[in-house]
Amino acid sequence: MTGEEIVQGVPQGRARGCPFDPPPSLTAVRDRAPLTRMAFPDGHVGWLATGHAEVRAILGDQRFSNRYELWHYPFPGMEQFPELPPAPVGDLTGLDAPEHTRFRKLLTGKFTVRRMRLLSDRMAEVSGECLDAMEKAGPGVDLLEAYAHPVPAVMICELLGVPYSDRAAFLGHAAAISDVDLSEEERMTAYGQLQEYVASLVPAKRATPTDDLFSDLAGSDLTDEELAGLGTFLLAAGLDTTANMLALGTYALLRNPSQWAVVRDEPEAAGGAVEELMRYLSIAHTGVRAALEDVEVGGQVIRAGETVVLSVQAANRDPLKFERPDELDVRRVAVGHVGFGHGVHQCLGQQLARVEMTVALPALVRRFPGLRVVGEVSLRPEVQNIYGVRKLPVAW
Ligand code: HEM
Repeated sequence: MTGEEIVQGVPQGRARGCPFDPPPSLTAVRDRAPLTRMAFPDGHVGWLATGHAEVRAILGDQRFSNRYELWHYPFPGMEQFPELPPAPVGDLTGLDAPEHTRFRKLLTGKFTVRRMRLLSDRMAEVSGECLDAMEKAGPGVDLLEAYAHPVPAVMICELLGVPYSDRAAFLGHAAAISDVDLSEEERMTAYGQLQEYVASLVPAKRATPTDDLFSDLAGSDLTDEELAGLGTFLLAAGLDTTANMLALGTYALLRNPSQWAVVRDEPEAAGGAVEELMRYLSIAHTGVRAALEDVEVGGQVIRAGETVVLSVQAANRDPLKFERPDELDVRRVAVGHVGFGHGVHQCLGQQLARVEMTVALPALVRRFPGLRVVGEVSLRPEVQNIYGVRKLPVAW
């Protein structure tokens, strides 16, 4: 069947029994038609891509735009924004070439595999310090608060050069940006506050550069406004994502004891385990693009002006791409997953995220081999942009 069905919004409803599986109604759509028509809350009829090949093709094709103001905004609960404003200055995900290329070029050299690997030793120290503090505080802590959030927070602050004395205030704003219990307005206010704070750093970084990424960027041709915007965006993009991957990744391993044992006993399995967790959890559930011209994908024509929602979680569980897709198998070679996106907007911080997770996850598993969930786990609502954990109470 191809494109005859019109689904009403992105199918929701978590699978029963497993908090990590995509909604069965979503995978059923994928299995009927990997690219299907979808009605949006504002009445627009666009598309929903759920097959791995289709999602990857659209992500890799610049005839599809990332400019927010061209999208029909699809998520339930967000209907109050039928028209999205353009991306704030410095938010490079919301730009197309050539504006996007300018920012991307400036940043690419700063996030190389080699440079991120150099951070690996520092990462081991940071996670060791957090584990010491956790051991002192527990047993009986919230893993998100005690470990999964502080580890990437320290790393992103150090990478960008947020002074130590400012970190508590900075982290308060950063946490509010992605707090699912706050209103959209409160989150926007927090983003503004973070931006004001980053702007306040600009003169000092320009005048007396220190050894950090923000100082590096201050030496470029970016305006003060662009520098503050980009700094804010990087701080926001690198924190909530990695924190939730660490917390949700730990929870997934705890629910799959044989996989926990592999990470505990086989240090060389860590890199593959992280890749598989990225595929299996796909915490950035959904992407969106708008067609700039008529484009044929998988035998169907997406017309100029139509919005396509890309279900990353359905794509990463596509049986046409991955064998036994719903099984967490940390020994699998999960190459080709789209958990970090694909194409020109593919995650810039992916090497940093990989280093963080490859060090921090096994360090936790080995320090507390008997880690267990105690009490009720609270997960984020599935329509949230980044899926993850609100609370993960653990003891050992
Ligand atoms: C873009 C996921 C960590 C910085 C993206 C995209 C995804 C993603 C899916 C593509 C968005 C799109 O196509 O529209 C993740 C996940 C992470 C993570 C799951 C953690 C496990 C990080 C870190 C940083 C970072 C640590 C570092 C600051 C960025 C930036 C972009 C981006 C700057 C925009 C790239 C562009 O538009 O050219 N990320 N990310 N991310 N990510 Fe990450």
